[in-house]
Amino acid sequence: MKKSIKVAENTYWVGYVDDRKVPFHRLTLEKGTTYNSYLLMTDKPTIIDTVDISFGKVFMEGLKEYINPEEIKYIVINHVEPDHSGALPLLASKAKDAVIVTTELGAEELKLMYRLQNREFLIVRDGDELDIGGKTLKFFETPYLHTEETMITYCVEDKVLYPCDIFSSHVATYDLFNDLVSEDIMPDFEVYYKLIMHPHRPYVQSMIEKIKDIKIDIIAPSHGYILRNNPSKFIEIYDSMSKPQGENKKALIIYSTMTGNTKKLAEKLSLGLEDKGVNTEVINVSKDFNMNEIKSSIESADLLLFGSSAVEVINDYLKNTNIKLLDSSYMIKVTGMNDISLPVRVKFNPDLEEERIKNIAHAIGDSIIG
Ligand SMILES: [Fe+2]
Ligand SMILES: [Fe+2]
Repeated sequence: MKKSIKVAENTYWVGYVDDRKVPFHRLTLEKGTTYNSYLLMTDKPTIIDTVDISFGKVFMEGLKEYINPEEIKYIVINHVEPDHSGALPLLASKAKDAVIVTTELGAEELKLMYRLQNREFLIVRDGDELDIGGKTLKFFETPYLHTEETMITYCVEDKVLYPCDIFSSHVATYDLFNDLVSEDIMPDFEVYYKLIMHPHRPYVQSMIEKIKDIKIDIIAPSHGYILRNNPSKFIEIYDSMSKPQGENKKALIIYSTMTGNTKKLAEKLSLGLEDKGVNTEVINVSKDFNMNEIKSSIESADLLLFGSSAVEVINDYLKNTNIKLLDSSYMIKVTGMNDISLPVRVKFNPDLEEERIKNIAHAIGDSIIG
């Protein structure tokens, strides 16, 4: 049974409760989920996110109970994945004059996905505000939470944060407010964080930095519970779970060098790992070294990096050991980043590729901390 769910003044939940076992990326959501869409009935009526592509028609029916879709002026798309933007083509076909509000990358992707050629887009950037006639929306770019184009929306007057995938839970329920739920919601909230957000935890930290000075009374995400009882508790949980926790991890970089370039690369990777709190020891085997000391360092290390011009030879050797090898596909699985290419190859002087090497070291650090 569907009922009217009021989130704030003139603001209603118009989403869909999906109580199937929902296939989702590589997972099955055993408890189903909800696609939370919000209607802000201001002078310029605004929709924040839609529902999964499978439920566009039902979504439109529900929406019509509140408003004639032709009156909608803005459609905010925080995140283009089809579980959020899926009903956009249908909605846009009825809300003929509505402007689609999203990030630059979001607009590019939506145009490709849904062939929205003759449609006005409003591209928003970090901190931009939009007057929707009685309420003000403020936008924050939150890349990789969940995918690269993602942003979140904050209603200034209502102090409601609409963080899309962030702070969500996968549960199918109409009892959406966390203060009305009798069961403990924390396990579902934390499992969601671990599966969806934790691989991108450096970005979680940046997101928290962006919202730390705004007053938030309600967190209204795109899946599951709307958090209006003690919302700051949930932000603190994300903060503590995403903080670098490499203090107990140790890396060892062993390298040889002829020109000094591998030494520079080793030092840069070491600094990047240290940024993540990973204790890193660096040993140059071109100079005098003590084999027993190296052996004991290897035994206590969580991560070994070998630096040499003979990358293929070392790689082939390692493939025949039972050591877990960090390669590009492993990095995608563990960190969600698809632009980390391993082994790290640098032509000539690593000083020219400072930024790339730092990013790789950070991703490697994240992969072993998790
Ligand atoms: Fe997503
Ligand atoms: Fe989602």
